Amino acid sequence: MHFDERRTHFLQDRLLRRLRECRLDSFYSYYRLLISEEGRGELAQLLENLTVNETSFFRNKSQLDLFQKHVLEDLLRRKQERRDYTLRFWSAGCSTGQEAYTMAMQVVDAVAYYYLRNPLPYETPLPKPLIPPPWKVEILASDISYSVLRAGQEAIYNENQMASVDYAYRLRYFDKIGNRYAIKKALKELVHFDFHNLKTEYLPQRNDVIFCRNVMMYFDEAEQKRLIEKFYRCLNADGYLFVGHAESLLGLTEKFQMVHRNSGTAYQRIEVRL
Ligand SMILES: C[S@@+](CC[C@H](N)C(=O)[O-])C[C@H]1O[C@@H](n2cnc3c(N)ncnc32)[C@H](O)[C@@H]1O
Repeated sequence: MHFDERRTHFLQDRLLRRLRECRLDSFYSYYRLLISEEGRGELAQLLENLTVNETSFFRNKSQLDLFQKHVLEDLLRRKQERRDYTLRFWSAGCSTGQEAYTMAMQVVDAVAYYYLRNPLPYETPLPKPLIPPPWKVEILASDISYSVLRAGQEAIYNENQMASVDYAYRLRYFDKIGNRYAIKKALKELVHFDFHNLKTEYLPQRNDVIFCRNVMMYFDEAEQKRLIEKFYRCLNADGYLFVGHAESLLGLTEKFQMVHRNSGTAYQRIEVRL
């Protein structure tokens, strides 16, 4: 993890909290604990305390419009031409799951709308699935923090977390349980949660779209470049990468071109065509 001067205070504050929790009186003794065999559990605790997990449903609306209206439409058309009906999405640094479930809701709607205009001669089983066959959708949601992964898998959100979900989406994709909202089973089944540290070499391959928003900003420049290079390899040809509102690939790579529509931005893999 990278902490520049602007984040030193945050680091110090979180370290002090753990020091107190462990009843230690110096950073050095805490450091000794972390590198010891008994300190493995504490290292995981510290990690949980150092990650910033802020997220929400439908975060950055203009970018999501670009995703639904342009990127998904382009993807579905290209895939259908090749008779490849599997769509793979990845929310890298998914926090408590709202980003992945937002993608799921948008993908379901986009596939249904595309299918309406481009039906295929396949029998639809009953009850009608969210994704009409032969189309298949897989959404991977990954993070480095186990506690957020558990929350994403649980998929139950309170009224505050639901603030950005309009009532049409609430009715279609959520069940109300007491004063909380649970993602409906059929939508939940499209999303699979898994642990992945974006700093490791092996990352999930063959994705059509990667969302990695508000994660890279916590990496230093060299690490950002490495990650973008890895994302390039993790994407299928012509695949798309979405980064956060305050992030950009400018000056970090030559391998992606910017796609910009109505103030939403994404990056598409540049292919070398012979
Ligand atoms: C600010 S949240 C962003 C959540 C979501 N992408 C969004 O934009 O709403 C950043 C997430 O990235 C995760 N993260 C930080 N470093 C990571 C790493 N090296 N590998 C995987 N996930 C990481 C954090 O645990 C946190 O859940």
